[in-house]
This record gives sequence, structure tokens and C-alpha cells, in this order.
Amino acid sequence: MPLPFLAGLLWHGLPPWFPDPWLLLKTGSALGAITATKLYTAGATNTSERKMHGRVVLITGGTSGIGAQAAYELAARGAQVVLLTRLPPSDPFLVEYVDDLRERTENQMIYAEQVDLASLHSIRKFATKWIDNAPPRRLDMIILCAAILTPPGGQRLVTPEGSGVESTWMVNFLANFHLLGILSPALRAQPFDRDVRIVIPTCPSYIGSPPLTEALGKEGWSPGKAYARSKLAMLVFGQAFQKHLDTYVRPDGLPNNARVVFVDPGWVRTPGMRRWLTRGSLWGLVLYLMLYFWAWLLLKSPVMGVQSILFAALEAGIAVENGGKLIKECREVDFARKDVKDEDVAKQLWESSDKLIERVEKEAALQRARAKKEMEQREKEAREAEKAQEIESLVQTIKNGKEKEKEKEKESKKPRNRKKSKPEGKKAS
Ligand SMILES: NC(=O)c1ccc[n+]([C@@H]2O[C@H](COP(=O)([O-])OP(=O)(O)OC[C@H]3O[C@@H](n4cnc5c(N)ncnc54)[C@H](OP(=O)(O)O)[C@@H]3O)[C@@H](O)[C@H]2O)c1
Repeated sequence: MPLPFLAGLLWHGLPPWFPDPWLLLKTGSALGAITATKLYTAGATNTSERKMHGRVVLITGGTSGIGAQAAYELAARGAQVVLLTRLPPSDPFLVEYVDDLRERTENQMIYAEQVDLASLHSIRKFATKWIDNAPPRRLDMIILCAAILTPPGGQRLVTPEGSGVESTWMVNFLANFHLLGILSPALRAQPFDRDVRIVIPTCPSYIGSPPLTEALGKEGWSPGKAYARSKLAMLVFGQAFQKHLDTYVRPDGLPNNARVVFVDPGWVRTPGMRRWLTRGSLWGLVLYLMLYFWAWLLLKSPVMGVQSILFAALEAGIAVENGGKLIKECREVDFARKDVKDEDVAKQLWESSDKLIERVEKEAALQRARAKKEMEQREKEAREAEKAQEIESLVQTIKNGKEKEKEKEKESKKPRNRKKSKPEGKKAS
């Protein structure tokens, strides 16, 4: 027992080396508050599991942020992961990324396929190739993580195909609409006992979106509105897509086995979030690094951000309950807007999106045909120029040859005796 020490405390008070109790209390409370805040903002951890070996998962946005973490987690559980990326699979960055993922997860079944979500043609090329298979290819899950968010103050951009589509609408909504629309037969053709899921990350920003029935023109456009509207559209379309799957009459007469699940991952420190916070500027990045403590404290890491997506992918209950649920912090929550489930809004959105795709695809096909014709014309001209050059050089060679012959002839016509006369001369001398 440290009796002498306690007696000393009693008679003489705290020793001089002991820190100020007030300071100790303040430091302790600050550390406690930081720990409590961090625990709260980190969110819930997924505890659901199921076997993923042999299951085929298509994932967009699997090279960055939450999508990259989802790809890692599912590959580590043995799933066959197909990353749908903007870059071609031969791109050195992508080759290295896939190799690294294979090594870290000890799973060789990870591939990349090029799908540029800003291009309807690229999506159609991939999706038609996927469904053009007999028997239908195995498909257990689609995770739609790819998205863009223009930083505040950023410019409104349109895609280069045809007359163009506003980029945020295209990548965040229309691309997914197009992809799921073409892959729908592949989803519906999966055997009845297969648990098929379509996982769609969303964001609370949809709550503040203008209604989908109001067009968002150039004048009213802002990065925030465009992003929120695209997220609302995904929610409305996802509900309609679930109905489309449910109403399909399978040849075996059994009920639909595909479920749409929406996931709000919370605020996560991803490259996308960093671009938004820093406004995509160098000064913003410097400020972000200076205030990094707050980003660390208030935002989730990608590992924590993916937890609700893992819940949506792994929780057994999702397969047996109705589709179209919203998951947040690994549990079901309600939607904050009524129009998410409004069938009239969904019908209008579906029809207008179909029309938009048809128009842009037609324009893009004409554009491609024109570009092909121009290229062929350029190639033809280049070939003709090359031919002309060849003929020119041939003619030149012939001319040179003739001139040489003439010179030779001249040489041969020169009197030979002159040559002979020299030695004679020599003899004479
Ligand atoms: N981070 C958050 O706090 C947060 C909050 C709520 C919801 N969410 C949602 O969660 C999802 C993932 O967010 P995140 O922050 O992890 O995203 P992120 O880091 O910005 O990554 C976006 C991904 O989308 C891909 N992508 C962008 N344009 C593409 C295109 N044209 N074609 C193909 N791929 C394209 C990117 O590919 P490249 O790498 O090639 O550009 C990247 O892999 C998004 O749907 C987002 O809306 C995020």
C-alpha cells in the first residue's frame, strides 16, 4: 500500500510534478467528447454475412471511394467482381489496380470492363454484349456506385454524344436507367433460387430537390440542384424498376427474385467528397489539409461508409422481403418524400427518359456515321496521296535511270582510241 504517498497527499497536497487537476479535467473532457463524436459519426457496423463465393457482382464506380471499398469487401468474400470503368481494361492504372485488388483479396476473379457512363453508346455496347449469351450469364448483384458531383460554382457541362445530356443527369441517373433497362432480361432470367440484388447508393440531398415534374433548365441549374435531382430520379426510377421486375411473369410461374435496395452511406471522406469540399481548387485542397482533423472527425472513412452497402448486399432478410427499401446505418428507414413512390411521376420519368435516350442515340449514331465517313475519306485521300507519291518516285527513278543510260551511251560513243593513245604516247616517250 502506498501509505506514505497517500499520507503525503493528505498533509501536503498534490506533489509539484502532478499536472493541474483543472487542466486534467479539461483535457479528459475534450478527449471524451472527440471519442464520442467519432464513434457517433463513424456510424453503424454491418454484422450480416452470407457466402459470396461464385456470385457475380457488377459494380460501377468500383475504382474510387465507397465503390472501391465495396469491390474490395465483396472480392475478399470470394465474389466474382466485374468493375465497370470509364477506362479501358488495358489502361496501365487499371491493370495495376485490378492486380493489387486480386493480391489483397487473394481472389483472381476480378475483371474490368469499359463502360463510360457519360456515353449511351458505351453502355449499350457493354450491356448488349452481356445479355447476348445463351444460357443467360450468371448475375447476382449490380452495385451502382458511380456518380459525379460538380463542385459549388462549377460549370454546367453536357455530354458530347448528339446534342448532349447534362452531365450530372447523364452519369447519376440516365446511365443507370439505360444500363438496368438493357440488363433487365438478364436479371429476370436468373434461376428462381438465386438471390439477385440491385444496390443503389443515394444521398439525403434528394429531399431538397425540385420536383421531377419541373424541368431544370440552364437558367435554374446549379451543381447542388442537379445532383439532388439526379438522386431523386434514381429513387423514383428504382421503385418503378422494382415494380417492373415484380410484374414480370416468369416462364416457371415463380415470383420475381430480384430486389432493388437503396442505401444512404452517410457523409464519407472519398475523392468525390473531397473534390466537392475543396471546390476542386488547389487553395481548397490546402485548406482541407489544414482542417483535416475536422474532416476526420465528422466524416466517415470509406471502410465505415461501405457498411450499409454491405448490409444491403449481405443481409439475408432483404431477399425475402419487398424490394425498394432504403437502408441507412444498417437498418431500414423511411423515405423523406412522398413523390419517391408516386407512380405518375415514375411513369412520366420513364417515358421522358426513353424518349431522350432514343433521340440522343439516333443523333450519336448519325454523328458516328459522319465521323466514320470523314475518317474513311481522309484515309482514302491519304492512300491516294501515298500512291501518287509512289508513282512520282517511280517516274523519277525511271527518269534518273534513263539519264544514266544516256550518259553511259555518251561515254561509250566517245572515241576509244584517245584512251588507247595514252599508252602509245607513253610508249613513244
Ligand atoms: N461520399 C459521400 O459522402 C456520399 C454521400 C452520400 C451518397 N454518396 C453516393 O455514394 C456513391 C459513391 O460515392 P463516392 O463519394 O465514393 O464517389 P467518388 O469517390 O466520387 O467515385 C465516383 C466513381 O464514379 C466513377 N465515374 C464517374 N464518372 C464516370 C463515368 N463517366 N463512367 C464511369 N465511371 C464514372 C469514378 O470513376 P473515375 O475514378 O474513373 O473517375 C469513380 O470510380 C455515389 O453514388 C454517391 O452519390 C456518397
